[in-house]
Parts: sequence; C-alpha cells; structure tokens
Amino acid sequence: MELRIERIERLKRKKNAIVLAHNYQRPEVQDIAEFVGDSLELARRAMDTSADIIIFCGVDFMAETAALLNPHKRVIIPDICAICPMAQQLPREVLLAAKRAYPDAEVVLYVNTLAESKALADCICTSANAREIVRAMDASTILFGPDHNLAYYAQKATSKKIIPVPEHGNCPTHHQIALEDLIKAKDAHPSAKIIVHPECIPEVQDRADYIASTSGMVKICTDVEDEEFVIGTEVGLLHRLEKEAPGKKFYPLSTTAVCPQMKMPTLEKIEAALEQEKPEVVLTPEIMEQARKPIERMLALS
Ligand code: 13P
Ligand code: SF4
Repeated sequence: MELRIERIERLKRKKNAIVLAHNYQRPEVQDIAEFVGDSLELARRAMDTSADIIIFCGVDFMAETAALLNPHKRVIIPDICAICPMAQQLPREVLLAAKRAYPDAEVVLYVNTLAESKALADCICTSANAREIVRAMDASTILFGPDHNLAYYAQKATSKKIIPVPEHGNCPTHHQIALEDLIKAKDAHPSAKIIVHPECIPEVQDRADYIASTSGMVKICTDVEDEEFVIGTEVGLLHRLEKEAPGKKFYPLSTTAVCPQMKMPTLEKIEAALEQEKPEVVLTPEIMEQARKPIERMLALS
C-alpha cells in the first residue's frame, strides 16, 4: 500500500491533479485526498482549485456537480459504476409531470439528482442548506425531490407547502435505519448525544439530539463538550470523526448503514484513473448550461 500511495502522490504532482473525497469514502481514500467533505463543501472546493484534473472520489452526482461548475477542468471518477440509487429515483419525465400538475410551484432538487433533472430545477440544495434554500424561494408551493425524508426535514422549517417528488424517494442506506436502532442505542449509550442525517426517516429525526449534514456532524462533535456520540449516517464518517476528535467516542446508529456505491473507489482505481485520465465525467453542452444555473443559485443563496 505504501508504494501505491507514493505512486499516487507522484502522479498527482506530475499531472497537477487533486483528489476530492466525500466523508463516506474508505479510510485509505480519505487519507490520500487533498480535501474531504460533504456535498456542499465538495462543490465549493471543486471551484476553488487551480488543479487541471480533479479525481472525484464519491458518487456520480457529486462528480457531475464538480464538472458542471468547472467546464474547463477534467473531472475523473475512479469507478464509473459508483451511481447513487436515490438520484436515479427522479427521472426527468417524472419531474416534468409534477411541474405540469403544479405550474405555479418552484422546483428545489437535492443535489443527489441526475444532471438531466437538475436542468429543470429552480434551485439545488444539499443536506447542509435545504432549510435555508426552501425558505429563500419565492413560491408558496415547492416541488422537492427526490428524498421525501429530506423533504420532511425541510418542511419543519417553513410554512410553505412542500410536495415530495416522487412521493416516496429515499436513500436505501439511511431509510433502513429504524426507530428500534435508535431506542437500542439510547439504552446502550445513555450519555451519548444522538446525531442523525436528514435522509433518515421522520421517526428517527424526531428522536435525535441533532440533525445535520455529514460535515455538520463533524462540526458538532468537535465543537460541543460532550464526549460520546451515536452517529446516524453511513459508517464511513466515523473515520473522519475519530481523526478530528481523538479521545471522544463514536458509535454507529446502525452498523449496516453502508453505501456500497460510496465504497467503490479504491487506491488501485485511483492510481489507474490518474495514469489513464479516465473515466471522465462528460455532459452535453446543453445540460452543462441548464444544470449549472440552479447550482450557482444555491451557492449564491447559502
Ligand atoms: P452530505 O452532503 O451530508 O455529505 O450527504 C451526502 C449523501 O449522499 C448522504 O447520503
Ligand atoms: Fe446516495 Fe444514500 Fe449512498 Fe448518499 S448514502 S450516495 S444518498 S445511496
């Protein structure tokens, strides 16, 4: 592994490349990245680099967002099969039908969507700014997709009418975390604070001490004085938490909260991606132009 890491570092220097990694990536991938963060931070960081090549270790919609914001940079995704299943749940046709049914509504889409659907949105949001974005919209009715759990979280912060599209869109990794998991965790760790992601089901959100994006969770755990935390999100975040808050204790709310797609990038695939400069994220000029606008609006609003 040591030799591979040296080769990766040499290739990064030679090609003026950086590695951006999401908080759920494998520990060894997080450790060789120039930056590790949540979806919003990764979008901002992708715009804020002088590198020619971005190796994006995450899932498809995150790499696409980096590409949309950087038309003159090459964005390479080490495993082209790292496809977020939730993003697939809102195809363009479904959104077009909802827009026809609610012509006066504005469309806010979670960044976890296909670029072709983003192209139809008024604004994008992430888990870090969903409430802020919904409140900033002009319309009194908002079509919000694809995650109906995140829609529930956003609805709690506004009197606007939020309509989930599709009705039951969800992240399989978070949606399977049950209220019984939370009750068991509270029994097992009575002094721990419970922090959950807004992709969790309403019953879990309602019983948590905090609800936050992945990097929001890191901030809470490092800022507050508590020493023990139950973490209700994909288990990959625990690596970063243990690094940034050494001495504190972290317990996963569910050990089965593993996103298989997020685990697809490996050091071997990153080395190959750097060597071959592929697979590259490629979008049509039309989608690039249409999908970039609602992302830029989100960045301006949050
Ligand atoms: P964050 O933006 O909170 O990192 O969430 C991304 C994601 O895919 C959660 O499942
Ligand atoms: Fe998609 Fe869920 Fe995996 Fe996040 S954890 S990338 S929302 S499937």
